[in-house]
Amino acid sequence: MQSTEEQQAPSVYIDELGKHDEQTVVVHGWLMHHRDKKKLQFLVLRDGTGTVQAVAFQDDLSPETWAQFRDLTQESSLVITGVVRKDERAPGGYEIGIKDMQVFQIAAPDYPIAPKEHGVGFLMEHRHLWLRSNKQRAVLRIRAEVIKAARDYLDNNGYVLVDTPILTPAACEGTSTLFETDYFGTPAFLAQSGQLYNEADIAAFGKVYCFGPTFRAEKSKTRRHLMEFWMVEPEAAWMELPGLLELEEGFVSYIVQTVLEKRAAELETLERDTSKLANVLAPFPRITYDEAVQLLNKNGLDVQWGDDFGGDEETVLASQYDRPLFITHYPAQAKAFYMQPDPERPEVVLCADLIAPEGYGEICGGSQRIHDLALLRQRIEEHHLPMEAFEWYLDLRKYGTMPHSGFGMGIERLVGWICGVPHLRETIPFPRMLDKIYP
Ligand code: 4AD
Ligand code: MG
Repeated sequence: MQSTEEQQAPSVYIDELGKHDEQTVVVHGWLMHHRDKKKLQFLVLRDGTGTVQAVAFQDDLSPETWAQFRDLTQESSLVITGVVRKDERAPGGYEIGIKDMQVFQIAAPDYPIAPKEHGVGFLMEHRHLWLRSNKQRAVLRIRAEVIKAARDYLDNNGYVLVDTPILTPAACEGTSTLFETDYFGTPAFLAQSGQLYNEADIAAFGKVYCFGPTFRAEKSKTRRHLMEFWMVEPEAAWMELPGLLELEEGFVSYIVQTVLEKRAAELETLERDTSKLANVLAPFPRITYDEAVQLLNKNGLDVQWGDDFGGDEETVLASQYDRPLFITHYPAQAKAFYMQPDPERPEVVLCADLIAPEGYGEICGGSQRIHDLALLRQRIEEHHLPMEAFEWYLDLRKYGTMPHSGFGMGIERLVGWICGVPHLRETIPFPRMLDKIYP
């Protein structure tokens, strides 16, 4: 028989236990560890908001309830009623003294992810279960915080969220990485970027952003490339390259500082050296592409003017600084068709890549866009892109054109860097990679 207090006990989440010190509460969760000490049982429960140790004494429980402890397996789903007690040594600062327990399900005894080391291949095949472990939960909580901070920053600075389509008639970032679909009678592709549509939206709203999944059919098998990733892309009318850099450094430093403040516990779980993140404050250093080539040559890397940089070059460049590094003014030949040439030096474009420190690579790519109709038409031809698919985009240069700029930031790249997780597969719940579509 439950006492009246037990019957009336409120259901609470583990992260609210501190508000219920000395009270009887109900917690719903999953069993992570169980130690059976004869007349004493120690359970560690997880409920999504945190973990808590719950302790049961044989003398406090009915024989039927007590008997259930014998069969408990990892991941069994339980409802526990008990008294919250302050305990300095407990992970969340509180412990629960169990008075009653209902077992919703005894999980099958062969839960594949035991508390031992597993290979990454095995864990990836069991991603649907791996998500439950401490480190994966910490990374994905930080991901949610990064997304919230990104949106807050833009919402609070006058950027209007305008969603862009995912099925698109043309390439934005070059044709080599398109996922093609066969439905509309003419080829349609999964979006590589919402940018071209953002450029239409700014003439209606001034400052906009889109945020959504992005698809790249890359055949690259690197730790920095996913076939499906999430990108936030701000775009602003009348903004030129200097304004763009200011926007990016304000945005990125706000996100990093917000995560440091709000997700300290998760960063600790990940054993992240947060002193490195504390430095991430605007302004960020800036070098030109030409200076970057010189720096790379000085460091023994054989880079020719005109080449785009890969991961190795980015790591060498970024390692010279304690915060993200802007590299500006790349050769036009290394970049996308829409980038505005430098009027002083048309062989380079008014663009910037933002490179994270500690070897995490490019986190943002952006530029000023071509606003002149004739020049844009010429570039589309030079890139052998189908002019008819871009007629609407050219219209934007006919009816009220203006200088404008924007950038895209890959959420997974930023999360990887903030968490200190080098491989992007752990920064998204269900990664899509070369040869990887299950689960
Ligand atoms: O540099 P990218 O290709 O730029 C664009 O798509 C522009 N249209 C964005 C814009 O100006 N609105 O991609 C932007 C960012 C990269 O800096 C990187 O963080 C991320 O998107 N990214 C990827 N992340 C994971 N996997 C991939 N395959 C990625 N490709 C790009
Ligand atoms: Mg780029």
